[in-house]
Amino acid sequence: MTDTIFMTYPGGKNGSGVFQQLINLMPPHHTYIEAFLGGGAVMRTKRPATENIGIDIDKNVIWEWGFAKNRAGIPNLTTVCNDAIKVLTIELEDHRITADTLIYCDPPYLMSTRSSQRQLYAIEMAEEQQHRDLLNLLRKLPCMVMLSGYWSPLYAELLPDWRTHTYQAQTRSGKPATEWVWMNYPEPFELHDYRFLGNNFRQRESIKRQKTRWLTRLQTMPALKRMALLDAIQSMSASTSSPTMYSSPVPGETAESIDTRRHPSQQLALPDPNLFQ
Ligand SMILES: C[S@@+](CC[C@H](N)C(=O)[O-])C[C@H]1O[C@@H](n2cnc3c(N)ncnc32)[C@H](O)[C@@H]1O
Repeated sequence: MTDTIFMTYPGGKNGSGVFQQLINLMPPHHTYIEAFLGGGAVMRTKRPATENIGIDIDKNVIWEWGFAKNRAGIPNLTTVCNDAIKVLTIELEDHRITADTLIYCDPPYLMSTRSSQRQLYAIEMAEEQQHRDLLNLLRKLPCMVMLSGYWSPLYAELLPDWRTHTYQAQTRSGKPATEWVWMNYPEPFELHDYRFLGNNFRQRESIKRQKTRWLTRLQTMPALKRMALLDAIQSMSASTSSPTMYSSPVPGETAESIDTRRHPSQQLALPDPNLFQ
């Protein structure tokens, strides 16, 4: 897949401010699965997880990713050419989906919600029943799930208790449209990737400048004072961080055992002290 095709993939999440919003909704995770990969704007932009899996039913998409994999620089990336519903069902039945997995689904949107009924993908999800099957499956997964789409009575009916986030985007024909994201986990206290924090470009730039200022101050102060401040930040982080990544009702699991599933990436990553020498 050439980078140009990556950038123009129908329904691609590489639009201005779009992938940033999605990445800002992602709690820390060990395994990342993008179940309707396409051009994979989020997969290509976010900080990679330890294990990364992309699934798409279109063999051309997966073939193109074969060439793009190295350029995209995503370590431990496996691409799978198959129906995402089938793949996730098998993974669920074989108990291979763990709580520290984040699955992001960006399926072809429900036809009835699209402004144009034109076919966008070689393989569409044109039947309402396919969306029902997908959503019913996602509800059963013992991990964190994020799903993109336009609002519809069907999604509202099947995901009444999921948290939602909306943002404004543009359709391919340039019309404004409200994009929805459904999530089965509470608002995170920690993120997988902080590089895009901020609601818009100005906020993101301001946070970046603040980070640089704080790092410079830390770098130039006496080493012990720096360690004292870092120690205080670490204690604050330990006392305010979320108790769990995802607390799905796994039979026989207690709050304590859920807490032990926390991935090391959830702990505050202190800068390497050598950085300051
Ligand atoms: C909205 S696009 C994904 C766009 C992607 N998020 C991006 O940033 O480029 C939907 C993708 O789902 C794929 N697809 C359609 N039906 C599928 C299925 N049953 N299983 C897996 N992938 C499917 C299509 O081939 C298409 O690439």
